[in-house]
Amino acid sequence: MKKILVTGGLGYIGSHTVVELQNAGFEVVIIDNLSNSSLDVLGGITNITSQPPTFERLDLRNKSKVTEFFKLHKNIEGVIHFAASKAVGESVKNPLLYYENNINTLVYLLQECKAHKINNFIFSSSCTVYGEPDSLPITETAPVKKAMSPYGNTKQINEEILIDTCASSQLQSIALRYFNPIGAHETAEIGELPIGVPQNLVPFITQSAAGIREQLSVFGNDYNTPDGSCIRDYIHVVDLAKAHVVALQRLLEQKNKSSFEVFNIGTGQGNSVFEVIKAFENVTGKKLNYNVVERRSGDVTAVYADTTKANEELGWKAEKTIQQALASAWKWEQKIRNKA
Ligand code: NAD
Ligand code: WQD
Repeated sequence: MKKILVTGGLGYIGSHTVVELQNAGFEVVIIDNLSNSSLDVLGGITNITSQPPTFERLDLRNKSKVTEFFKLHKNIEGVIHFAASKAVGESVKNPLLYYENNINTLVYLLQECKAHKINNFIFSSSCTVYGEPDSLPITETAPVKKAMSPYGNTKQINEEILIDTCASSQLQSIALRYFNPIGAHETAEIGELPIGVPQNLVPFITQSAAGIREQLSVFGNDYNTPDGSCIRDYIHVVDLAKAHVVALQRLLEQKNKSSFEVFNIGTGQGNSVFEVIKAFENVTGKKLNYNVVERRSGDVTAVYADTTKANEELGWKAEKTIQQALASAWKWEQKIRNKA
């Protein structure tokens, strides 16, 4: 069994990826500092796969602890690095937290990878690097635009750090640029756990439907789109998780075409905010209470992926529909409400 380190493995995307890695026969070691997750997630993963992954509670900003970790855990063959702070608004208010947590941690990890000859590295990037795109769907060759937030900037800098490190060492890396991940595992054992008021659309929708939020605000209906609301590429988190397994296998089997590669990971379909609302209502039979408010600053009009490169090179394609994703998000919301 090949041993893979998953940082941020108790988080939203990380936990779903751990399940898919275990299903594919990998041994998983998780690092997480529980800053945006909980130990219960470990139980959820184990309930699905019947294999408890190894877990180390560790803050990746603590360089000496990271060094200790790698001395203790030998024979790691690949790293999937999810651990980061991800709230766009918070990054504007506290940029240094974001530069420390998202940049330093990558540097410390790469230093240890170099020291221990761990050459396979998958990185969580984001479609946010494209900013407001010049044309749609977006291909990987689209220019990286000046970041609109410190968070977005960390993803751009992270990619540059990886490019430079790959060029100067044995490191082989794939950056996956995620579009908008939504939904939860079909078992409702794991899912998204937003802390406080959700900033993202789908958790806000499910909390509104559950009666925790009074009203959903639609941020603008005067965009240049068919129904006036913004368009995004919403991808089921399980499809996204599976993309990590194939990307990792590409590196382990040395099928990558260059030492640093990027792939768009989306469905290739754009959906407007109103379409998401309608799809949620149809799938769940719940009526959403919403009203249209001012545009949210920093929102781009429309973003969706050209996934040809991932389809052809990784042999990966999103399989689940937005209806399945919304149904799973609702099942998860109900499960956590019943537990609370
Ligand atoms: P998440 O917050 O659910 O998961 C991140 C995990 O990392 C959490 O469990 C957190 O406790 C842990 N963590 C954070 N800082 C750490 C540190 N210093 N040391 C150890 N653990 C630490 O987020 P997610 O949605 O699963 O996102 C995972 C990755 O994907 C992030 O890098 C994020 O920027 C990126 N991404 C997310 C989205 C999205 O919409 N969710 C989109 C594009 C990219
Ligand atoms: C989706 C659409 C909103 C909430 C963010 C980050 C991005 C990436 C994914 C990490 C937009 C609208 C939302 C609400 C609404 N993360 N909306 N009412 O902004 O596309 O992307 O998460 O890399 O970097 O910026 O996702 O879910 O916040 O918004 O109308 O209460 O829903 O305006 O059009 P976004 P989102």
